Amino acid sequence: MSEFQVDLRSDTVTRPTVQMRRAMAEAEVGDDLYGEDPTVARLEALYAEMVGKEAGLFLPSGVMANQVAIRTHTRPGSFVVAGRTQHVVVFEYGGSARNAGVQFMTVDDSSGTFGAADVEEARSALGYYEAPLALICVEDTHMPSGGRVWSLEALAEIRRAAGGVPVHMDGARLFNAQVATGTPAARIAAGADSVMSCVSKGLCAPVGSVLAGSREFIERARYERGVLGGQMRQVGVLAAAGIVALESMVERLAEDHERARVLARAVNERFPGSMGEAQVPETNIVAFDHPDVDGLSKALAQAGVLANPIGNRRMRLVTHHDLTDEQVAYAAEVIRGLEGA
Ligand SMILES: Cc1ncc(COP(=O)(O)O)c(C=O)c1O
Repeated sequence: MSEFQVDLRSDTVTRPTVQMRRAMAEAEVGDDLYGEDPTVARLEALYAEMVGKEAGLFLPSGVMANQVAIRTHTRPGSFVVAGRTQHVVVFEYGGSARNAGVQFMTVDDSSGTFGAADVEEARSALGYYEAPLALICVEDTHMPSGGRVWSLEALAEIRRAAGGVPVHMDGARLFNAQVATGTPAARIAAGADSVMSCVSKGLCAPVGSVLAGSREFIERARYERGVLGGQMRQVGVLAAAGIVALESMVERLAEDHERARVLARAVNERFPGSMGEAQVPETNIVAFDHPDVDGLSKALAQAGVLANPIGNRRMRLVTHHDLTDEQVAYAAEVIRGLEGA
């Protein structure tokens, strides 16, 4: 094992900044279940404003934010349309089936998005039995395709095709989309009834996600958060880091995107064609196909570069705040020098 550790497993490995730790130590707090934590209230209002919604709700994780959104929008036995590789479908422990009793109808999202035709096809299949379609979920940025960004046109198309069925946006990395496109998060999320983002990923807060929607939706979501045991008490100590994340860590995501392009050039050179259509990453994730992801992970780890597979033939490299340019250049060299297939 090399001494040189470059951690490309996820942007969740980022640690809270000095400014965050200071804000956490000084946070004004109260019992949030009684609505008495002013710092949580500030974070919820700040996020709601940034994504153009009436109200926000602080949750311990992105998974819980998605699960609460699904519970709030649906009732047991209803259907949810989502991309086949989305986080809510693949990486949430099958939670939607247990927490909300819903059935996913999955559509092809290998390009990072899906279209009106996919939604219409799902609706017409369900229409045959008059089965209730309760929700459409989109993921922006879309992690498995390499952090790809939904265009505003594609989102508007989903909205039209939804025909009044609510749309939930898993915007775990929504601010990466904002920085990559220059489009404010509120415009991106305008076509969604609810949206959640993680402050704990590239934005470096230690814990937390925020869900936003109409005031009425958030009131019901607050109840559903309680059902899942997600209520918290003097949690302003965590919300304080989330406020620093939203106020001062968004613009720097551009640096992560630049570093992903450095890694992608090495991947393209060493494994031509493995990145499919996404030759140039739009945000901070480089995803590529490889026939032996376990062997590749081991070879990288031997050289001190940590990276995770996200499928039995798909590998992922994620850039983030806690890397240096030197580390990224080193990882690119390691990738270029890999032996074997
Ligand atoms: C697209 C997406 N949604 C949701 C989540 C869940 O976030 P958390 O790990 O905070 O539960 C993740 C985490 O990796 C993610 O990538």
